[in-house]
Amino acid sequence: MKIPLVDVKAQYAPLVPRIREAFDAVLEDGRFVFGPNVAAFEEEAAAYLGTREAIGVANGTDALELVLNALEVEPGDEVICPAFTFYATAEAIARSGATPVFADIDSETLNLDPADVERKLGPRTKAIMPVHLFGRPAPLDALAGFDLPLIEDAAQAFGSPAIAGHGIASTFSFYPTKNLFGLGDGGLVAVNDPALAERIRMLRFHGSKAKTTFEFIGRNSRLDEIQAAVLRIFLGELDRWTTLRREAAERYRELGIGELCIAPEDEPGHVYHLFVCRSERRDEIRAALGEAGIGNAQYYLPPLHLQPALRYLGYSEGDLPVTERVARDNFSIPLWAGIEAEQQERVVDVVRSAVGAPAPA
Ligand SMILES: Cc1ncc(COP(=O)(O)O)c(C=O)c1O
Repeated sequence: MKIPLVDVKAQYAPLVPRIREAFDAVLEDGRFVFGPNVAAFEEEAAAYLGTREAIGVANGTDALELVLNALEVEPGDEVICPAFTFYATAEAIARSGATPVFADIDSETLNLDPADVERKLGPRTKAIMPVHLFGRPAPLDALAGFDLPLIEDAAQAFGSPAIAGHGIASTFSFYPTKNLFGLGDGGLVAVNDPALAERIRMLRFHGSKAKTTFEFIGRNSRLDEIQAAVLRIFLGELDRWTTLRREAAERYRELGIGELCIAPEDEPGHVYHLFVCRSERRDEIRAALGEAGIGNAQYYLPPLHLQPALRYLGYSEGDLPVTERVARDNFSIPLWAGIEAEQQERVVDVVRSAVGAPAPA
């Protein structure tokens, strides 16, 4: 039985007739940029997230950069973020001209460790960028105590009631494997401050409100109408998908994954973008899964502070011990909304035999 790491097609297959209808309607309407679906999706997403405004943009990387630009983060400023995250988190900070400052993570949650964030604060710290990694809420309450703007990178966590609206802005990616995904690239910024929202809206369209006057240097970063039409359909399915993800995670725990490796504990608001485990025997486990035709992956090795593009920041091995250990020993196993019990049983059986544990009685 071959099992992919993520089966996006299985998730959207039942919705194909509605997706085709939506495509037809966009073709009929003929407005492909800034059309009615983008406006409606922005309203529906804001209502879902509980923020005053949501602004569609071209992808989750731009979403981060637009927020930094709107907050006038610039050269000389520092923004604290984890090094155990997708590269785009730190790249957006670097592109704003500011310096990414990496704080270590908590070994259990894999999210920013507030105690290390505190150690990294300095007179130039302009913001903190927590990532809700793998769908698990970052410790926003503790981070809010530092009294700096929190820019939540929520690319992996749409659908979690524990996020959005707590920080000054939350950003999302609709890359096709995300919890809420499009059929291509897309992104969103959710904010409560109307002035910040207006600035982001202008920045995503060349620093302009009307199409004739350009008030500052912006860019072109728009969510397109076809993606918005699909996202509106998928947003209506999201809570059901999240429930299925949470049930699948619980099933892995019931099947005893936690006796074979370090598996994620449940936490309210965890939406299980991925099910990422840890083991000193990671390579053997991944090899066994691969041989059995089971999708698996490892994340963020080398971690961001050791990536060639960020060498100029001057970090070296040993600077972020927890991040480096987790990067060496993590692996993910298949999970999506709708993975079947027998697929999960097979995954756990293969992990069990890879670590040489006896079959359950
Ligand atoms: C944590 C994180 N931040 C940012 C991004 C960037 O999103 P995008 O690929 O839509 O630019 C991603 C996803 O790819 C991500 O996982």
